[in-house]
Amino acid sequence: MNKVLVVGSINMDLVVETDKVPDLGETLLGQHFNTHPGGKGANQAVAASRLGAQVTLIGCVGNDTFGADLLSGLKQENINTQFIRITDQAATGIALITVSQSENAIIVVPGANHILSPADIYAAESAFIEADVVLSQLEVTLPVIQAAAEIAARHNKPFLLNPAPAAPLPDSILQNTALLTPNEHELAIVFSTTAETWQETLQKHPAKVVMTHGRHGAWFTNTAGELQHQPGIPVRAVDTTGAGDTFNGTLAAFWGMDMGEICRLACAAGALSVTRPGAQGGMPTHKELFDFLAALNADKPA
Ligand code: RIB
Repeated sequence: MNKVLVVGSINMDLVVETDKVPDLGETLLGQHFNTHPGGKGANQAVAASRLGAQVTLIGCVGNDTFGADLLSGLKQENINTQFIRITDQAATGIALITVSQSENAIIVVPGANHILSPADIYAAESAFIEADVVLSQLEVTLPVIQAAAEIAARHNKPFLLNPAPAAPLPDSILQNTALLTPNEHELAIVFSTTAETWQETLQKHPAKVVMTHGRHGAWFTNTAGELQHQPGIPVRAVDTTGAGDTFNGTLAAFWGMDMGEICRLACAAGALSVTRPGAQGGMPTHKELFDFLAALNADKPA
C-alpha cells in the first residue's frame, strides 16, 4: 500500500439537516445539528489511511478548540500530523453545511488553511522524499499548491490534484500534475473551456484526467485518448458530503494499479461513504471495501 502525502485543508464541519434549504430572507426550523471533522485535505487523508495507506498530512489549524479536536482525530486515524502547523494568526477553518434530501450546500471559511504558506511546504521537503504519491486540493492557496507540485516534480513523485473548489490553474501547476480529478463543473473551469464538451476535454488530455460524475461513477481516457467509463454503484445515500474526497483518497492509496481498477475501487469506496452521516463517517476500511465488492460480485448472476 502507498505512502501518501496530502497537502490540504482541515475544517470543522458545522452541519444542519433540514427538509428544505431556506431561500434568502427565510427562516426555517432544521432537524439536527452536528459537528463533524472535515476539510478536503483531512478527508482525503482519512480515506487513504482507513484503506491502509501510510499517510502524512501537511496543513494548518488555529490555536483553538476545533483545531485541537481535529488534530487529535487525525492522530486517531493513524495520520502523521508532524507537519500540521498551529497558528495564532487565524481560527481553524470551518464549513457551514446544509444537508437536505441527502444532498449538500457548503460555505467554507478557510481561516488557518490560508495561513499555510509555501515556506511550510518547503520545510516539509523530507515528507515528499518519503512519499510514493502526493495528493492535494484547492482549499489551500495556489502558491502552496504550486510549491507542492514543484517539489513533487523535483523528486519524481506523482502529484494528484483534486481541483475543488474549482479555479483556473496556471500552466506551472498543470505541467507538474500527473492526474486531475475534477467533476464536470470543475473540469470546465480548470481548463477554461466553454466551447467544447467534457468528452472533448478529456480526449485532449489522455490519461491525465479522471472526471467524477456523482452517482454515475467516473470517466477517464486511456493513453490513446479513448473514453472509459466506470459506472457508479447504487446505494441508499444518507449524506453525500465527502464522497469525492473518499474517491480521491482511494485513488492515492491504490495509485500505480491499472486506472480502470483504481476507479472501480474508488467508486465503490465513494458509494460506501455516502451511507453514513458526515464527510468521514462512511469512509470504508480496507476490509469493508473488499467485503462490499465481494458481496456485489456474489449478487451477480453467474
Ligand atoms: O468535500 C467535503 C468537504 O468540503 C467538507 O468536509 C468541508 O469541510 C468542505 O471542505
